[in-house]
Amino acid sequence: MTDSDETVLRTENLEKHFGGITALDGVDVDIGTGITGLIGPNGAGKTTLFNCLTGFESPDKGSITFEGTDITGANPATIAQQGLVRTFQIPHELMEMTVFENLLLGPPNQSGEGLFRSWVRGDRFVEDEVRARERAREMADFFDLDHVIDEPAGNLSGGQRKLLELARVLLTDPDMVLLDEPLAGVNPTLEQRILERIHELESQGYTFLFVEHDMNVIMNHCDRVVVMHQGRVLTAGSPDEVRSDERVVEAYLGEVDV
Ligand SMILES: Nc1ncnc2c1ncn2[C@@H]1O[C@H](COP(=O)(O)OP(=O)(O)O)[C@@H](O)[C@H]1O
Ligand SMILES: [Mg+2]
Repeated sequence: MTDSDETVLRTENLEKHFGGITALDGVDVDIGTGITGLIGPNGAGKTTLFNCLTGFESPDKGSITFEGTDITGANPATIAQQGLVRTFQIPHELMEMTVFENLLLGPPNQSGEGLFRSWVRGDRFVEDEVRARERAREMADFFDLDHVIDEPAGNLSGGQRKLLELARVLLTDPDMVLLDEPLAGVNPTLEQRILERIHELESQGYTFLFVEHDMNVIMNHCDRVVVMHQGRVLTAGSPDEVRSDERVVEAYLGEVDV
């Protein structure tokens, strides 16, 4: 496992309000290299934090620094160019396209117009078609999608779709990938495969932050865990530290009462 000393992503006093609802109430996180799990009861603010980090929501207050650059309020394209991306569900209109075609496209930009390829880092711009096809095949191999490469994406199982989502964002050459419940609806075999791939990518230097509800996954696969509750960071530490923290147990017990 990688040492998590080096800060990759930091937020300071991040706030986000929706009308009278406070979704983020002063979030301070400091995410290092490696694999970090983000947990917390429903409504804790995990998805809102992801949206703010990746530019899909603009925070009302506070700051976000990624690899030393202030990205607060920047748009998703700019943030992706810096190397911070999140996975997207494969949109309906791409379900009839093959896995290979999906990999050639890469993820669409957020407003849906144009191809992702047109807004990723400049060097990708000049990448020729041959190289793009090579990379799409390499990615399919890496994620064990080679045997379904000519199948429509709509034929894939839930887990294979998650692998394809991950493959698509990796084609943008990110440094850090955010995953919101990457294992939801995934069978145990593919769950294992997704986790293995995340570990392998982590050993190649990618940084991951992912939301996951299964505590066994969090305990066994994360270098560090950040716990959110009511729009704030309740605690952060190693899986063992977090597990033995009474406040974490209480936060989840509170959820049962709701
Ligand atoms: N677009 C929105 N409009 C209004 N309220 C929202 C919106 N997004 C999130 N919220 C509210 O913000 C709080 C945090 O939600 P969310 O970030 O989805 O939590 P989590 O992902 O941890 O379950 C919840 O009370 C939720 O209802
Ligand atoms: Mg959520």
